Amino acid sequence: MSESPSRNGQAKLSLPSGEKVGGGIPWKLKEAFASFGSSGPRLFFAPGRINLIGAHLDYNGGSVLPVPIQQGTYAAIALRKDHRIRLKSLDFVEEFDLDGKALPPASQLGWAAYPIGVWLEAREMGHPLMGFDLVLGGDLKRGSGLSSSASLEVVMGLALLECAEQCVDLEELAMLGFRAENGFVGVKCGIMDQFASALGQSGKALYLNCATREHRHVPLGEDLEILVLDTHKPRELVGSEFNLRVEQCHEALAVLRVGTPEIGHLAAFSLEDVERARAELGAVLFKRARHVVTEVDRIERAVGALERGDLEEFGSLVYASHQSCRDDYEVSCPELDFLVEGVCQADGVLGARLTGAGFGGCLIALARPGAFGREEERRLAGAYDRAFGRPLTVQHLQLGAAPHELDLG
Ligand code: GLA
Repeated sequence: MSESPSRNGQAKLSLPSGEKVGGGIPWKLKEAFASFGSSGPRLFFAPGRINLIGAHLDYNGGSVLPVPIQQGTYAAIALRKDHRIRLKSLDFVEEFDLDGKALPPASQLGWAAYPIGVWLEAREMGHPLMGFDLVLGGDLKRGSGLSSSASLEVVMGLALLECAEQCVDLEELAMLGFRAENGFVGVKCGIMDQFASALGQSGKALYLNCATREHRHVPLGEDLEILVLDTHKPRELVGSEFNLRVEQCHEALAVLRVGTPEIGHLAAFSLEDVERARAELGAVLFKRARHVVTEVDRIERAVGALERGDLEEFGSLVYASHQSCRDDYEVSCPELDFLVEGVCQADGVLGARLTGAGFGGCLIALARPGAFGREEERRLAGAYDRAFGRPLTVQHLQLGAAPHELDLG
């Protein structure tokens, strides 16, 4: 595999024919694209992510620490000179042939709401875009908490802007996806996932302040292995439960701001502020706010620990984050809790927590390299199967790269 720089400074990957990147997805996309009968597509990729710590802080003005992963979303695309939009996905049977000037609402578009939302936002920003032909595919399981939607939005934005020969600013690319998801799609997510996918660098975590959007990359070092454990419990009710948490945080903020209206984010309050307002907040909002302010403290300490190389401390803060997600934010589930406890029992596992929104999907575990091998995995999978009747998949994480174009030659 060779790399050459492209116009926006991103690496352009050239793949020798037959190389099985992404399980051969780029080639499958090219094949599926051929049935449009339009001229050859360009191919792009954007990664998914895990978040090490900073759970549910992005939409509360706190910081997050995501890492891009090797899996993600691929797009084969060609722009058109009319307003027709044709969409296919390797993962859905439903195909779309739409008139870009008379689009149905997002609720009637299923999976297509995501690429269409990005196209609408890009046009809103003034980019000169007509219709397009698109095939999407990826190796991120939907609902697994690894951010398939943000990687789709980022790859879509990159593909559209590159093909229209527009300058690609990575922060703008992330914001394009964020606005598409909050606007047209209607999920009130924060900016973490899109920033992680657009600005991620291999082998580094992105330490992002979601209030100011200031960020820096923090090297993960050689002594840390990240495992991703899939509960095989699909996230349920995630849209509505997720939006409910966002609403509860807005309500808690409204209570806490009385007397200090200049404070705009829940993450800016201290634990003392939250304790003082306990009666006014009521039991549920108190717990939600306590998670946010204690998580702010944990992520600051965790980044310090990671930079000092104090991985024990880092791991224990990650584990404390899970407990807070479970007890105060109530976004865990019995399957995630069981596996977090189980994996942490192995020698050399430093900490574990749910990743993404929660409610099911995946957890991450931080381990000394080689500490959690096949034998530990077999034992935990057996116990998990006995307790929940579900399989367990453990992946030793391959760190991902920045979004890029692929050249299939
Ligand atoms: C989802 C959202 C993110 C973030 C996480 C929780 O992945 O899309 O914006 O809020 O949940 O940390």
